[in-house]
Amino acid sequence: MTVKISLFYAAAVCTAVVSAFVEELDDSFKDSRMGDTWIVDFYAPWCGHCKKLEPVWHEVGAEMRSSGSPVRVGKIDATAYSSVASELGVRGYPTIKLLKGDLAYNYRGPRTKDDIIEFANRVAGPVVRSLPSQQMFEHVQKRHNVLFLYVGGESPLKEKYIEVASELIVYTYFFSALEEVLPKHVTLQELPAVLVFKDGTYFVYDEYEDGDLSSWINKERFQGYLHIDGFTLYELEDTGKLVGIAVIDDKNPSEESIRLKSIIQTVAKDYREHFNRDFQFGHMDGNDYINSLIMDEVTVPTIIVLNTSNQQYFLPSQPIEHIEDLVRFINEVLDGTAQAQGGDGILQRIKRVIYDAKSTVVSVIKSSPLLGCFLFGLPLGVISIMCYGICTADSDDGSEEVELLKREGRDQELTDEGSEEELEDGNDEQQPESGAEYSDEECEEKTSTEKKTD
Ligand SMILES: *[C@@H]1O[C@H](CO)[C@@H](O)[C@H](O)[C@H]1NC(C)=O
Repeated sequence: MTVKISLFYAAAVCTAVVSAFVEELDDSFKDSRMGDTWIVDFYAPWCGHCKKLEPVWHEVGAEMRSSGSPVRVGKIDATAYSSVASELGVRGYPTIKLLKGDLAYNYRGPRTKDDIIEFANRVAGPVVRSLPSQQMFEHVQKRHNVLFLYVGGESPLKEKYIEVASELIVYTYFFSALEEVLPKHVTLQELPAVLVFKDGTYFVYDEYEDGDLSSWINKERFQGYLHIDGFTLYELEDTGKLVGIAVIDDKNPSEESIRLKSIIQTVAKDYREHFNRDFQFGHMDGNDYINSLIMDEVTVPTIIVLNTSNQQYFLPSQPIEHIEDLVRFINEVLDGTAQAQGGDGILQRIKRVIYDAKSTVVSVIKSSPLLGCFLFGLPLGVISIMCYGICTADSDDGSEEVELLKREGRDQELTDEGSEEELEDGNDEQQPESGAEYSDEECEEKTSTEKKTD
């Protein structure tokens, strides 16, 4: 008995210690937050994604504390303290925000401990980090696949760079250095300059060619060739680029898969000058994600081009066997001669609703046949019985009533199938880790930074 009680106390004390890493916040947070940098989880008690985040959030709190990070970790019930939530522009649950003075940064990445901590440390730190020596530069270059660097002294370009960085730091790091720090092979026509180091080389920003700095950085913040998953695709939407994807079986590749991957990699590298402005390239493992995206079945391997701005897609009309075939296909997409499919028109949206409903039904039945039978079978059973009743009923009853009954039956079927809770559960099971969940309503905010005007 005493053992049990002391165990109970030990457990209680442990929980208290663990939760102390995450501060439970309330309305007073509005005024008390200003002196510190915070990362806060805005949750709703009833939301499933919030519950999934909770243990991760505790780990984030514990690790931030033990690593001596100055960032404070908190959580707030956004439904109970809605004035704080609405003041900070919370529109879905869970919302993760880093709050630094007047700035609020939304976290949109995968909800894992390491990703969240990396984000917190990046965004909480200096907007532009200076690299004082060549060793520092080399060290940093090894750690970052894509590295933005301002080279030169004070200038209007530097001010612009800092301004852009303070917004885009949600995605990537920004550095600055003097020219001496650069490796010998880097030659600059003029100073100051903004460079990006990636894909084993570097590119210099040219205001006349590349347009404004912010959109250039947004387009260059990815490596020229990527392993693309649902989340990457979601991120790529911001670039406004077309995405050329080799859909292959990456784990067990056929000869054709290997050839297609090497063709698209070569085009990404050798035709950068031609296509980089409009195109991002990469490969995707398996066709599950693509199929649900385009609501059709693509054969593996294949090349597909997605227009992330309007949900259209393009498939090659001829097999792609050589580099020239792919270059021709890309040019056809660019000059408008390739046939676009899909899109975000009204018909496509209706198709999407039906498609999603269908996959929900399928996934519910697959994951729990009994529940599925009950949910969808019961209404169907009722309808059949009614139909049977109608068909065997006396014909004197009049056709009007028959119509009425039929309609009632149909209505019932619709409401039962379309019940909201089922839809949500079904989606969860359908795509547990695909990253598609980030694109649903819970993170509907596309803006990543908001300047708050008090
Ligand atoms: C992609 O979509 C945008 C927005 O609708 C459109 O302006 C652009 O022309 C499209 N690109 C291609 C190659 O179809």
